[in-house]
Amino acid sequence: HTDATTDYYEITQQPAVAEIIPGYRTPLWTYQGTFPGPTLVSRSGRRTVVKHVNKLPHPVVVHLHGGHTPQDSDGYPGDMILPDGGHTDHLAHMGMMPALPGIPVVGSREYVYPFEQRAATLWYHDHRMGFTGQSVWYGLAGFHLVHDDEEDRLPLPCGDRDIPLLITDRAFDADGAMPYPSVHPDLHSPGVTPPYMNGVLGDVILVNGAPSPITRVQRLRYRLRLLNASNARRYRFELDPQPPGGGGIVQIGSDGGLLDRPRAHDSLQLASAERADVVIDFARYAPGTRVRLRNTLGTGRTTEVLAFDVSSHASVDDTMVPEQLSTMRLLDPATATVTRDFLFQNRGEEDGWMINGQPYDPARPLATPRLGEVERWRFITDVHHPVHLHLDHFQVLARDGEEPGPYDHGWKDTLGLEPAQAAEILVRFTDYPGRYMLHCHNLEHEDMAMMADYLVT
Ligand code: C2O
Ligand code: CU
Ligand code: CU
Repeated sequence: HTDATTDYYEITQQPAVAEIIPGYRTPLWTYQGTFPGPTLVSRSGRRTVVKHVNKLPHPVVVHLHGGHTPQDSDGYPGDMILPDGGHTDHLAHMGMMPALPGIPVVGSREYVYPFEQRAATLWYHDHRMGFTGQSVWYGLAGFHLVHDDEEDRLPLPCGDRDIPLLITDRAFDADGAMPYPSVHPDLHSPGVTPPYMNGVLGDVILVNGAPSPITRVQRLRYRLRLLNASNARRYRFELDPQPPGGGGIVQIGSDGGLLDRPRAHDSLQLASAERADVVIDFARYAPGTRVRLRNTLGTGRTTEVLAFDVSSHASVDDTMVPEQLSTMRLLDPATATVTRDFLFQNRGEEDGWMINGQPYDPARPLATPRLGEVERWRFITDVHHPVHLHLDHFQVLARDGEEPGPYDHGWKDTLGLEPAQAAEILVRFTDYPGRYMLHCHNLEHEDMAMMADYLVT
């Protein structure tokens, strides 16, 4: 419901069973019984309160990814909601975790989101310390869309032609379950390459919880909000066939909302947690064409994301993609007050995934940025790491000293980095002082401690 200042949602986190593969029952952990969770919708400048009730048998944490959120509602990994109904044995379970700031609450809590931010495709997901990969794998992820007047004024496709697509990979066993493997390397068998060092991958692509679906479209423009919600898989999306003349994937937005102007791509790459808003004009295809959205980084079934069957009757399209979408106020590198380096690196089997040689340690924040100041942050990698910052979006300044990449435009909160790369970003933390975090969004790297806090003061 809603009142003069606030929109309210209530979500019960609960076990559920879904028929993902026809004829099989797949146990899930869900928001409100479905995977993905319900798509929440908010208005820029209006407060949203989301009450989460935890009916799962273990602690949960809800993080709004891309949200410009005060610390106490950000979903810090230690700010847990214990199970409703008081299973006190889980307190012992928690005792096995590193000491974390944050006071666990029992049963339910309200997250308060001011939404002093522009229209964007956000998502919410579990962020429990050490268990994020497992929780998201079992289903704890959903969209949270923010709309604003600037975007509403544009003649973009909307309503049932504005489609959020939550894209994940999963692996099923013979009974239809999606068992999540233990990712923690066995430190007692030196010489054995620990499995899942590059994250847990599946061999089936699910789009909004359905295996490589086929959907009917009219010969009109559609806006697709692509979210790579996979634990570790990277995608490069391509239309097959390409429309005559190419450039069929017209990107209009990224993590933090609209770009300044549209960018037409033949292919578009997303690392874990990155989003791209794209417009596809199916009028560029002959009636009756089956247009596949393929993942050219996949093999076998993981190349198949989804397919569109273009209808045969003619339609009149009253939408368009304007040449100018938004005004992008560029942060000026000359105003940066600090440069900080963050090295994302595996330090060997004994030590694991680290940032600046340190596994996650809430007692040792890696930076203390000042509210309102522009900072230049450099991320340096060994292998692929999607680097994510909480609290504010950033702008990409360079990759390996060169121009930003083709998918780096606009405001980002997650940046897919290539192996042995150095990327520079400009960021300005605003409005909310407190403890926030940067981490690798390969969820297995994250759970293996590739996280760090920064204190915004
Ligand atoms: Cu989407 Cu800190 O995570
Ligand atoms: Cu986040
Ligand atoms: Cu990583």
